[in-house]
Amino acid sequence: MSLMDKHGIIERNASLLLVGSLVVVSIGGIVEIAPLFYLENTIEKVEGMRPYAPLELAGRNIYIREGCYVCHSQMIRPFRDEVERYGHYSLAAESMYDHPFQWGSKRTGPDLARVGDRYSNEWHVQHLIEPRSVVPESIMPSYSFLANTPLKLANITVDLKSNALVGVPYTEEMIENAEADLLAQADADADWSGIEERYPKAKLGDFDGDPATLTEMDALVAYLQMLGTLVDFSTYDEAAGYR
Ligand code: HEC
Repeated sequence: MSLMDKHGIIERNASLLLVGSLVVVSIGGIVEIAPLFYLENTIEKVEGMRPYAPLELAGRNIYIREGCYVCHSQMIRPFRDEVERYGHYSLAAESMYDHPFQWGSKRTGPDLARVGDRYSNEWHVQHLIEPRSVVPESIMPSYSFLANTPLKLANITVDLKSNALVGVPYTEEMIENAEADLLAQADADADWSGIEERYPKAKLGDFDGDPATLTEMDALVAYLQMLGTLVDFSTYDEAAGYR
């Protein structure tokens, strides 16, 4: 029987043709889909990434609540103009603890992925209270109420726990100390040894210029000031063979 005849049998038998098509299509499907189940392997490991400190996480929640992502992205693309303006392009690993991620899809304002350390705390507070007092042409809205709104602590332990449930490596110790760490990070007189050990590179001290009250402004500025500061790119680029 020639090859043509064999093929004729399949073509004339609807069930056989259906089974044959399914086999062929599923091979294609498996090749495309199976690697996605091993996605963890495709996110390169980088040194320095750690879960958000409780105060940073609280600030991030305010960032999401206020819709900052509507105007700001957190994703530097690997193009020369972006890298020269914002710094090293974003790595997948840099948003691996983000639930939900804040890459954004539109930039009315600048990308914020590496805004940490670019300005002083005072600048951020002033800018959030009245953007036009520091950037006259700004169209960013004022968020002055954050400076008068006490930060609610009640949910922070649960928040760490729910992040742990979806895979963020918060330890028992981090969860137990969540509230204490949150308070200590924004308190210039606190003992910072625990928080420095649990959350290396966390920015410490009063953020909003009002040491007496812990406000939403403290949390948001603590979050903005750590964005993009965890990975040391001099060692990353060397290891990746870029330098
Ligand atoms: C309606 C759009 C809009 C919204 C919403 C918005 N921003 Fe902006 N933002 C801008 C624009 C435009 C600029 C550039 C002008 C300026 O610096 O004010 C900017 C600038 C910034 C900068 C300075 C960035 C840099 O590299 O100079 C920071 C930080 C910032 N915004 C934070 C926030 C935060 C935090 C929120 C939410 C609480 C927010 N923005 C909400 C439009 C917006």
